[in-house]
Amino acid sequence: MALLDFIRYEKNLTGTKIGCREGDCGACSILVGEWVQGKLRYQSATSCLMALGHAHRKHIVTIEGINSDNLTPVQKAFAEEGATQCGFCTPGFVVSLTGYCVSDNVNDGSAIDAINGNICRCTGYKSIQRAAQQVQTVMDTRNQESAVSFAVHHGMVPDYFLSIPERLAALQESHTLQTSDDARILGGGTDLFVQQHDQMTEASWQFPGHQDALRLIRKEGDICVMGGAVTVSDIAASEIFRYHFPGLDRYIKLVSSTPIRHMATIAGNFTNASPIGDFSIFFLALDARLTLSKQGRQRELPLRAFFRDYKLIDKDPGEIITEIRFRLPSADDRFHFEKVSKRTHLDIASVNAAISLRMSGGMILEAGVSAGGVAPVPAFLPKSSALLANQYPSPELLETMIGSVQSEIRPISDARGSVEYKRLLLSQLIRAHFMELFPGMAPSFIPTH
Ligand SMILES: Cc1cc2nc3c(=O)[nH]c(=O)nc-3n(C[C@H](O)[C@H](O)[C@H](O)COP(=O)(O)OP(=O)(O)OC[C@H]3O[C@@H](n4cnc5c(N)ncnc54)[C@H](O)[C@@H]3O)c2cc1C
Ligand code: FES
Ligand code: FES
Repeated sequence: MALLDFIRYEKNLTGTKIGCREGDCGACSILVGEWVQGKLRYQSATSCLMALGHAHRKHIVTIEGINSDNLTPVQKAFAEEGATQCGFCTPGFVVSLTGYCVSDNVNDGSAIDAINGNICRCTGYKSIQRAAQQVQTVMDTRNQESAVSFAVHHGMVPDYFLSIPERLAALQESHTLQTSDDARILGGGTDLFVQQHDQMTEASWQFPGHQDALRLIRKEGDICVMGGAVTVSDIAASEIFRYHFPGLDRYIKLVSSTPIRHMATIAGNFTNASPIGDFSIFFLALDARLTLSKQGRQRELPLRAFFRDYKLIDKDPGEIITEIRFRLPSADDRFHFEKVSKRTHLDIASVNAAISLRMSGGMILEAGVSAGGVAPVPAFLPKSSALLANQYPSPELLETMIGSVQSEIRPISDARGSVEYKRLLLSQLIRAHFMELFPGMAPSFIPTH
C-alpha cells in the first residue's frame, strides 16, 4: 500500500494530509531517515508516492513525531508570522522545514528551497517566506555540530532522535527483504505512483534502492559509474558531479522539487521514456552506457540505443538497470543543459536540450547534442553532433548547426506548445548553449527574430 495510506489508516496519524496524491502539493510530506554509507541522513519525501516497502530499514517521521510539549522553532515561526490560515498545508510545510534542519543541507540550499514542493491555497506565501527566514536565522548559527544533535539541542526535534542511529544500525544487520525475480521494479515511485496509482497495490515489487551497491556513485579513472538506484539528490550532492559539472546546481533546480528529487532515480527517468525526461536528455549528450541485469545475466547498451519509439525501450520487463557509466568531462571540455517549461520550477519541460563538447586547443573534437519535446523519444541528434566535430566555434557554425537541428527533429503540437513554438524554442536553446559555453562570442549570438 502507499505509505501515506499506511500512516493515516493503519497508524491513525492524521496530521499527514492527502492533497493531490501526485507529488505536487506537499500536504503528505514526511521525513525519511536512513543509514547511507555509514551516516544517518534525513530527507523530506512525499508519502503519497512511496510504497510501504520503501520504508524498509528506515526511520519514517510524521508531523506527530516532531511534536514536543512546546512549539518547535519551526512551529513557533509559523505562529508568529501568521503563516497559517486553514492549516491544511501547515504540517507539510513544518515537516519539510524540519527536514532542512536535520539534514546536512548539501543539496537543499536554504530553508526556502526546502519548501519548494509545498503549496498553500489560502495563506499567501509572504508570511510563509518570513517564517522560513526565521528558521534560516537559527540554522545560520550551526557550526561543526552534527545536524541531528544541533536540531535536538535547539528543540527542533524531540530527544528520541539521538537514539535513532543506534536503532537504525541494528536494523541494517538484522533484516533482509525477500523479493522474487519476477516482481516489478520500483525506483523512487515518482512516475509509477502518478501513472498507475490504482494498480500499485495489486503488484509484487522489488526495490533496487534496498541494495546499497546500487546507491553508489564512483569514479574509475575518467569514467563515472552510478548505481541503478542513484537519485537526483544523490547526483546533486556528489563531489564527482559537483567538480565536473560547474553548472550542476542551476540544472538541478530546474528539475521537479526538493522532495521529488530526493526520491526520483536516474534509471527511472530513463525507463519511463518520457520524451522530455530531463536526465534522459542530460545523459544522452554524455553518451552514457547502461548495464542491464536479469537473473544473473548482464548486457550493456548505449543509452542512445535504448529509446526505440514513443514509450518503447530496449528492455525486458524483468531487467534492472544496475549501472550507468559515462566519461566525465575534462577541464577543457564543455557541457551545458537548458530547459524551458511553462513555469520555471516544479514543471516538466516544453523543450529541453543538452550539449557535451570534447575540446582541445579551442577546437571541438567531438560533440553530443540531445533535445527533448521535439520527437516521440528523448532525442540524440547524430547529424548535428557530427557537424560540430573538428570545428572551431563561430557564429557561422552556430547558424549551420541550428539549420541541421531543425532538419533532425519532429515535434508535435500538444499542451506544452505548437510545432512552431517548439522549433523556435530549440533554436533558442542551441543559441543559449553557445552563449553559455563561449561567452566571448555572445553578442553575435543574440537572436534577430
Ligand atoms: C511532482 C513531480 C515533478 C516531476 N518533475 C520532473 C521534472 O522536472 N523532470 C523530469 O524529467 N521528470 C519529472 N518528474 C517525473 C519523475 O520524477 C522522473 O521521471 C523520475 O526520474 C522517475 O524516477 P523514479 O525512480 O521515481 O521512477 P519509478 O516511478 O520508480 O519508475 C519509473 C519506471 O522506471 C522503472 N525503473 C525504476 N528503476 C529502475 C531500474 N533500476 N531498472 C529498471 N527499471 C527501473 C520502473 O519499473 C518504472 O517502469 C516529476 C514527477 C513528479 C511526481
Ligand atoms: S498528496 Fe500532494 S504531494 Fe502527496
Ligand atoms: S493555510 Fe490553508 S492551505 Fe495553507
